[in-house]
Amino acid sequence: MKFPKDFFLGAASASYQVEGAWNEDGKGVSNWDVFTKIPGKTFEGTNGDVAVDHYHRYKEDVKLMAEMGLDSYRFSVSWPRIIPDGDGEINQKGIEFYNNLIDECLKYGIVPFVTLYHWDMPEVLEKAGGWTNKKTVDAFVKYAKACFEAFGDRVKRWITFNETIVFCSNGYLSGAHPPGITGDVKKYFQATHNVFTAHARSVIEYKKLKQYGEIGITHVFSPAFSVDDKEENKAAAYHANQYEITWYYDPILKGKYPEYVIKNIEKQGFLPDWTDEELNTLREAAPLNDFIGLNYYQPQRVIKNHDTGEKIERTRENSTGAPGNASFDGFYRTVKMDDKTYTKWGWEISPESLILGLEKLKEQYGDIKIYITENGLGDQDPIIEDEILDMPRIKFIEAHLRAIKEAISRGINLKGYYAWSVIDLLSWLNGYKKQYGFIYVDHKHNLDRKKKLSFYWYKKVIEERGKNI
Ligand code: BG6
Repeated sequence: MKFPKDFFLGAASASYQVEGAWNEDGKGVSNWDVFTKIPGKTFEGTNGDVAVDHYHRYKEDVKLMAEMGLDSYRFSVSWPRIIPDGDGEINQKGIEFYNNLIDECLKYGIVPFVTLYHWDMPEVLEKAGGWTNKKTVDAFVKYAKACFEAFGDRVKRWITFNETIVFCSNGYLSGAHPPGITGDVKKYFQATHNVFTAHARSVIEYKKLKQYGEIGITHVFSPAFSVDDKEENKAAAYHANQYEITWYYDPILKGKYPEYVIKNIEKQGFLPDWTDEELNTLREAAPLNDFIGLNYYQPQRVIKNHDTGEKIERTRENSTGAPGNASFDGFYRTVKMDDKTYTKWGWEISPESLILGLEKLKEQYGDIKIYITENGLGDQDPIIEDEILDMPRIKFIEAHLRAIKEAISRGINLKGYYAWSVIDLLSWLNGYKKQYGFIYVDHKHNLDRKKKLSFYWYKKVIEERGKNI
């Protein structure tokens, strides 16, 4: 089987992780500009001030993407570049940068797939309560409209938010992301609801503009599986999926929240403050979503947690995806299993779980169009005689593309695959050491770009439409 012509074989990035130019051309300060400067927050104090300088080198980068043959490039717009103070004037220089980037992609026939929020928010808004403040919702909708109006003639695929669960849980539970708050469950749930409302309102606004493109959201997809057949562990996996999948997917695709979670958090006093109008907006927007984007890196293996009283200290490593933690409510725990394979950063490698997860998703949400908006291997790539021989990445992506083929043959409505990432970039908390790209960036020599072995391999995969996968 080949990947059909209308299946995008692409790759992705995000503004803060690649652009740099943090204070150029009128860009406002973002929450990440501030957060990464707090001692101890990131690996060796790395930040995105310069990142890989995509802001200045986008032409060179897009040219490399064209050489690779990418069907599509997923990138994000930096909100503080467009509206520096979050809610005021539009910065024309910011518009100009993305106009140029979009035009450069189109020049080579690369379809731009644009994410509006990949975590960098104007600091002014973060200071005023960020996603816990409903004024942020209004500001986001205004920003989204500004983007639709400026770029919508050429951009026909929009993602509102990237991984709500990650920026909300790290922002308000583990404190690993801005605003760095720990253990505030009420704020965590409030933030998620406000994001879903911002998404729903933006979708409605987009459809009003009649630009005839697609709009959706990107969620983490880490389906939970019980480690065995014990009833208590199966209940733990159910609980994990309700809190981490259903709580996120239902309000978007069904326009309502799952009863199971509502009942629990109502008892505990964590129910978000919501209005009937907001709940109606979720219902109104749900059928207007054109697709769901999934970022799939790994599944979760879970057991019932018995030591509920214990407070688990999160380290940088285990707060960014490696198993070993109890859930915030102490109900279940993720575990590492002896018979599974893991990356250097402790993330499980399991293409089979993607297929199983997608089948469950189909049972819950039917035939909604799906894009895999991120999937990839974080590694320290071997350099041998000046060549970047990233064989493990090739194996990883190949296995996942094979799983995608299988899922398509089982009737899953998959329409694209975006490898994370197109180029080596700043890993939010793990600096530049954790590499994901097809293109290597030499931090010792002027940020020079170099093609990795995987670059040539992916080029061939695209040329052959995956025939030999
Ligand atoms: C996803 C994010 O969570 O995972 C990306 O959308 C991120 O922005 C990627 O880079 C990998 O995470 P990490 O922690 O390995 O950089």
